[in-house]
Amino acid sequence: MIVRVGYILLIICIFVQCDQDEPAKTHIAIVGAGLGGISTAYWLKYYLNDSVAITIYESDQVGGRLKNVDIDGNEYEAGGSIIHEKNLYMKRFTDELGLKRLNVPSSMPYIMTNDGSQTLFSTLSRYIPNVFLILWRYGVDALRLNFWLDKKLSNFARIYDYQDNGRTFNTVEEFLQMLDQDFYTATRFSFRKYLFEKGFHKKFINEIAQIATLVNYDQSVDTINAFPGLVSLMASASTLWHVEGGNYLVPKKILEYLLKQSDVQFVKGYVKSVTEVHRIDIDDQGGNVRLSYKPLNSDLVHAVDYDYVIIAFPLHRDNMNDFVLQTTDSFNQYDYRMQSTYADFLYGKLNCQQYNLTKSECERLKAIFYTNPSLPYRSVAQQQTVNENEKQYKKNDKPVYKIFSPNKLSLSDYKQIFDNDNFQLIQDIPWLAYPKYEHPQKMPPIQINKNIFYLNAMEWSSSCMEIEVISARNIAMLLTKKIGIELKRSDKHIEF
Ligand SMILES: Cc1cc2nc3c(=O)[nH]c(=O)nc-3n(C[C@H](O)[C@H](O)[C@H](O)COP(=O)(O)OP(=O)(O)OC[C@H]3O[C@@H](n4cnc5c(N)ncnc54)[C@H](O)[C@@H]3O)c2cc1C
Ligand SMILES: *[C@@H]1O[C@H](CO)[C@@H](O)[C@H](O)[C@H]1NC(C)=O
Ligand SMILES: *[C@@H]1O[C@H](CO)[C@@H](O)[C@H](O)[C@H]1NC(C)=O
Repeated sequence: MIVRVGYILLIICIFVQCDQDEPAKTHIAIVGAGLGGISTAYWLKYYLNDSVAITIYESDQVGGRLKNVDIDGNEYEAGGSIIHEKNLYMKRFTDELGLKRLNVPSSMPYIMTNDGSQTLFSTLSRYIPNVFLILWRYGVDALRLNFWLDKKLSNFARIYDYQDNGRTFNTVEEFLQMLDQDFYTATRFSFRKYLFEKGFHKKFINEIAQIATLVNYDQSVDTINAFPGLVSLMASASTLWHVEGGNYLVPKKILEYLLKQSDVQFVKGYVKSVTEVHRIDIDDQGGNVRLSYKPLNSDLVHAVDYDYVIIAFPLHRDNMNDFVLQTTDSFNQYDYRMQSTYADFLYGKLNCQQYNLTKSECERLKAIFYTNPSLPYRSVAQQQTVNENEKQYKKNDKPVYKIFSPNKLSLSDYKQIFDNDNFQLIQDIPWLAYPKYEHPQKMPPIQINKNIFYLNAMEWSSSCMEIEVISARNIAMLLTKKIGIELKRSDKHIEF
């Protein structure tokens, strides 16, 4: 008997010995395998490598809001679709993963209308270049716009230098202020008021700015604050691209790479709660945060303790009851809402008659944008597959259209857009797409508790792929500093 006890003790001693030889790993869980969660894992490995063990939880598909839809054997982008040419991280990820960037058409013939009763602007003319058309209608505003946006863009691009040099931020407000004081100010006002005070005219605000915010965030210049407003304008006035084969390939391929590294685990399951564990006894080993989850195809709830947990999906009023999170007093999940947006895919023929178009104009028409925010739909645009670039535009004779709308559309709505009964709904995809913005904008905390971080807090500045990756790198750096490991400094940060 005595011999046995001694034996057990010996084994325990050996274990402790082993632990001392190899420094203890920090255990981190990431909830959500969208672009944000996956790139957080990437940067944690980049900065901490062997000193972290990472578990990524996902209840649905890798890629989250980046997703393709298959239509008769062709793939189309159903969620996040366009990337700005100055989005450095998305560019580097795409290139380093061996994926190809394809430009989206820069001069798509479109009409802009209030609600279909009046054409406000059109680029259907075969003879007059768009630049002249825009100058003719919007005058000095059009001239100023590009200079002004370039300046704003180069201020935004400061983030890359800052992050390369190890600079972190603790709040969304601090992020905006360190780039440009005006970015923070912008979050205090409606986009209309902000633009008006910058000297832009009513016509520009009601048409160009309105279309930009309605198409990008399904919100009007009166409800949205000016920072996501600015981001929307940037997306309307530059060279844009997408990933050949679909943007979801970026998170998918990063995950494949990560799973080849040591100590990265991927778990399919729904995380139900994340709460702090208070350990009274210092000898009581284990992490500080308890995560409970339900694996797919099982009803048993498992609990695992981690040193840190990163929430990599949006927390808002509508998912409060499905996910229990221990928060601080300063964060009330109820205060945050998401904008619902439907992406409908249809075959059909646009109703050109309504706009008094000639036959040849009608053939070239690719998109219609509606400026009236009380309409049930925002835009209709002919789609390219995820494998087509600018030059291959419109090849197939049965064009696929995508309509964006805040709610589910009815048959009579489609009849307003398409020629009589000349349409066929193929698929409608409901999204809780982006935050519902307000002014002044309240920002959620990046650090929710001592050991719980919130990646998507940054989405409340503006929601786009690049912001998620910036947020991911920031959290990885904050954690590296917390753990007490020196930050690797390099501008060649993305390597596979
Ligand atoms: C229709 C639409 C159009 C858009 N257009 C653009 C665009 O053109 N350009 C652009 O840059 N951005 C665009 N965006 C925004 C962009 O897609 C998002 O900002 C980005 O993809 C968000 O990535 P994420 O990883 O932070 O979140 P998500 O992609 O939402 O990932 C979160 C993941 O967490 C998982 N999850 C949630 N709860 C749990 C749980 N309890 N347990 C386990 N897993 C959970 C979800 O299943 C999901 O996979 C668009 C978005 C939509 C919807
Ligand atoms: C981590 O370290 C291993 C071995 O030291 C190395 O092969 C690997 O490339 C490193 N990974 C990262 C992400 O730096
Ligand atoms: C089409 O022409 C009619 C008659 O001239 C006009 O009343 C109508 O407003 C025009 N439609 C649009 C969308 O401009």
